[in-house]
Amino acid sequence: MGTIDSVLKENRLFPPTDDFRVKANVSGMDGYNALCDKANADYAGFWGELARELVSWKTPFTKVLNEDNAPFFKWFEDGVLNVSYNCLDRHLDARGDKTAIIFEADDGAVTNVTYRDLYTRVCQFANGLKSLGVQKGDRVVIYMPHGVEAVTAMQACARIGAIHSVVFGGFSAGALRDRIQDAAAKVVITANETVRGGKTTPLKAITDEAMSLGGCDSVQKIVVFQRTQNAPEKWDALNIWWHDLIQGQASECEPEWMSAEDPLFILYTSGSTGKPKGIQHSTGGYFLGTQVTMKWVFDYKENDVYWCTADVGWITGHSYIAYGPLGIGATQVVFEGVPTYPDASRFWSMIEKHKVTTFYTAPTAIRSLIKLGGDLPKKHDLSSLRLLGTVGEPINPEAWMWYYEVVGGSRCPIVDTWWQTETGANMIAPLPGAAPTKPGSCTLPLPGIMADIVDESGAPVEAGKGGFLVISKPWPSMVRTIWGDPDRFKKTYFPEDYNGKLYLAGDSAHRDENGYIWIMGRIDDVLNVSGHRLGTMEIESALVANPLVAEAAVVGKPHDIKGESVVAYVVLKNARPEGDDAKRIAKELREWVAHEIGKIAQPDEIRFGDNLPKTRSGKIMRRLLRDIAKGAEITADTSTLENPAILDQLRQSAI
Ligand code: PRX
Repeated sequence: MGTIDSVLKENRLFPPTDDFRVKANVSGMDGYNALCDKANADYAGFWGELARELVSWKTPFTKVLNEDNAPFFKWFEDGVLNVSYNCLDRHLDARGDKTAIIFEADDGAVTNVTYRDLYTRVCQFANGLKSLGVQKGDRVVIYMPHGVEAVTAMQACARIGAIHSVVFGGFSAGALRDRIQDAAAKVVITANETVRGGKTTPLKAITDEAMSLGGCDSVQKIVVFQRTQNAPEKWDALNIWWHDLIQGQASECEPEWMSAEDPLFILYTSGSTGKPKGIQHSTGGYFLGTQVTMKWVFDYKENDVYWCTADVGWITGHSYIAYGPLGIGATQVVFEGVPTYPDASRFWSMIEKHKVTTFYTAPTAIRSLIKLGGDLPKKHDLSSLRLLGTVGEPINPEAWMWYYEVVGGSRCPIVDTWWQTETGANMIAPLPGAAPTKPGSCTLPLPGIMADIVDESGAPVEAGKGGFLVISKPWPSMVRTIWGDPDRFKKTYFPEDYNGKLYLAGDSAHRDENGYIWIMGRIDDVLNVSGHRLGTMEIESALVANPLVAEAAVVGKPHDIKGESVVAYVVLKNARPEGDDAKRIAKELREWVAHEIGKIAQPDEIRFGDNLPKTRSGKIMRRLLRDIAKGAEITADTSTLENPAILDQLRQSAI
């Protein structure tokens, strides 16, 4: 990798207010250090104690961690529990009438769902799934609008021991088919349509298209939630309405008692190859990760109104909507729509209306809302807020300062949470009543998370020097394997370069003189566009699948709002197009990618060339492509380039 150096120098320090610190679940750096010392002194004892405190077990575990078959670690393996029981049943006595979900629809309609209501909904739907023959271990794909029913479907799967695989509603038929096929799903749960920003998307029709692409023979039923009044075009024996399925179902459903190591869900994420990885999470360890971070990082209090703006289609929506807040008994806002509809003050008016105390969103949303109306928060009463959070990508200090001052009134700590689909829960983040924050740094590893920054040989790098972010000890909520591909799991995350001993996160980072961690970006061919992870290979495979395209290379380019944007270099089978022809084909290719993967993967910029810059051995020189995309001087040595003239052509051809 050579040396990675960061140019960012940020020395402002923001300690929590005394009031926040005194009331915090972990108070002051002494509190944080005491937890770290405990974890260092007795790692298994530390996690075992938390698992007993925060999780309700049907049968308690006797062993905390089994490392015999590393890196296939087992946590609490002889413990028996059910996650849905932990999220619903255990709250009924004390919090049955407490609001679990304040659902705000795209059009502003609000529905309050209590813990008892949610329990009944989940039990009825779980019984419905059982009536379709869904059993423990079966896979269920959930391709739904973000809302109460998506959470209900996930909880119902957890209740009966079915493994859910949620597919983000913005993914295309092709992406949905691949996920149905890879997991051999027995049931798909969808909706006739989604409604976001006043626009509808026909999820049922996309599901039908996915089915027609072939390879989905495992599917025995498609359950359709009726979100809008528009009738689906196609309806056949495979389909059943959600409302018909739950009709007459009992409102109680005995939970399926699961081993802590039974899979809870699979969630696909992009990696360095064209094929997304099915990240498999466990029942016990995963759930513990969500609970301990709700307590420490989100400093959860019984009267909080918590709002995470993610979609359940991503890991943030799993851990910090579907499981974390429900497990701890919180009242949470679930929002169906987008931050800019009907206008850019939607978030601020919702915080005011629902008296939100804890607000968790993505830097890309913050940046776009600054651009659309940096003064809008001031027109709203945001005094209910006490804690802010960000996730998904590095936050630039300017956006951090605006979030801190304008949204948080300079009184709310910001928890910048670094984690991944694979880690299951927050890993590096300030405990808000303890660590003074620095704009742009995710600060310190959580107690019990052994994060380090190492060089190519695995040796820790000195402060200020960039290196690879690794985790040197297993943690409870870690990925267990890649669905159906344990070899890829081992090679990707526990590479032989480090003797299979270190979890390689795939990010570069450095530590400053206070030990604070600064994430610098991905080290693999993964882009982070608006906080969404996209594999460049995936987009390239989609492009070359188009009959016009001979070759394609995709790179990222820094973008003010999205963090990174997608730039595609394309060689057509026919001659390089120019003028209107080039524009027309570029448009066609963008639509093609939207159709193959989803709109989020559409190239922002397409550059046509007669060829791509390659070494004499035929390797595409991506560094040059990144420089050209940025409009930067090419500093790399181009002497090994087979065809140097191509650089000028590519430089001039942005569409
Ligand atoms: O590069 C890091 C970035 O997002 C990647 C994980 O993406 P995903 O699995 O989709 O999960 C996103 C939500 C947890 C990481 O490898 N990332 C995530 N959080 C941060 C971040 N980069 C910088 N700062 C963060 N707080």
